[in-house]
Amino acid sequence: MMMEHKLHVGVLFGGRSGEHEVSLMSARSVLASIDRNKYWVTQIGIAHDGAWWVGENVLDALMQSDVSGLSPAALFPDPTRRSLYRILPEDTHEQLERLAELDVIFPVLHGTFGEDGALQGLLELADLAYVGAGVLGSALGMDKGVFKSVMQAEGIPVVEWMVATRSEIESNVQAVAQRAMQLADFPLFIKPANLGSSVGVTLCLSAADVVEGLFEAARFDRRVLVERGVKNPREIEVSVLGNDQPQASIPGEIIPSREFYSYEAKYIDGKSELLIPAPISVELTRQVQDLALRAYRAIDCAGMARVDFLLERESQSGSDPKLYLSEVNTIPGFTKISMYAKLWEYGGLSYSELIDRLIELALERKAERDRTERRFRREES
Ligand SMILES: Nc1ncnc2c1ncn2[C@@H]1O[C@H](COP(=O)(O)OP(=O)(O)O)[C@@H](O)[C@H]1O
Ligand SMILES: [Mg+2]
Repeated sequence: MMMEHKLHVGVLFGGRSGEHEVSLMSARSVLASIDRNKYWVTQIGIAHDGAWWVGENVLDALMQSDVSGLSPAALFPDPTRRSLYRILPEDTHEQLERLAELDVIFPVLHGTFGEDGALQGLLELADLAYVGAGVLGSALGMDKGVFKSVMQAEGIPVVEWMVATRSEIESNVQAVAQRAMQLADFPLFIKPANLGSSVGVTLCLSAADVVEGLFEAARFDRRVLVERGVKNPREIEVSVLGNDQPQASIPGEIIPSREFYSYEAKYIDGKSELLIPAPISVELTRQVQDLALRAYRAIDCAGMARVDFLLERESQSGSDPKLYLSEVNTIPGFTKISMYAKLWEYGGLSYSELIDRLIELALERKAERDRTERRFRREES
């Protein structure tokens, strides 16, 4: 009997970002649900310090912060070696053992170095297929400042914002705070430009909060964003799936358990709620789906993204509802019960089918990329 070719999928998780633990939760779900009849799965864990590990039960080892039973691993930027290697310790020099040729990489990594284009750059150089957006889409989705400029150029509504650098904050925080308070009345939100999971985000109601918020955000990034706070917002999210012909799911709504959707509200107290579908009008539903797809295309996303909106509650039933696109997450929280997957499940696509689809899209995107001519030779006349 012929065995159907099983694809070899490398699932990458952990990472050096503040969202390391969030990544482990997402990866646990993926590893539990990925169809083992279709795929060989290799777990590749990246520890807090950036070291790559392979072996038995990498996920559990990372969860327990005990990598003693694992082997260091390496992936080369050299496209002629499209394999994963294990590094064997030797008395005098290390040796490489070729493990497997990978058909596709599924980076289940959030935030810095995983979702921002850095890893995607390595995977491009290695000439591997991978799930999700490429270098550009990842980087644009990650930097909340440049992202807003692109949205504005596309005519997509975003809240007023400004960017300050860490060096500006450190050399004259009062001047930056002044500039921030001229942007809009309180509340203001201050956040690192490149992060997620609400790490380093401060809701500011006074000048003192602003100074504190600027220093807090500057701990996590050299670029800091100040935004006008939408008062009493509704938080609406849409899942987008696809490459050149992306599709938008029905929108969902987050009901945060706290003053805003902070790290604690997202992962710790377990009291935030997801409403699927979001109880909004047909007109608003159509509008958020349309804006989500436009944003997705504008930053050249691929595979998946969750697109988040803020809706000003007071304006929603009037003739001119104030809806703002807040951010695009190119590797959104990816547990089975995360908003991204739940919205597709509501639309009839199960979690393991969603994983299948993302792997398919990764291979399609790679095939499409491979059509690009790399050598150019002028015709001799
Ligand atoms: N301009 C804003 N107005 C109102 N609430 C905001 C604003 N910016 C952020 N928030 C609140 O903070 C949360 C986290 O901010 P967000 O920009 O989504 O960062 P992250 O990438 O960390 O999720 C949002 O879900 C929302 O609750
Ligand atoms: Mg967010």
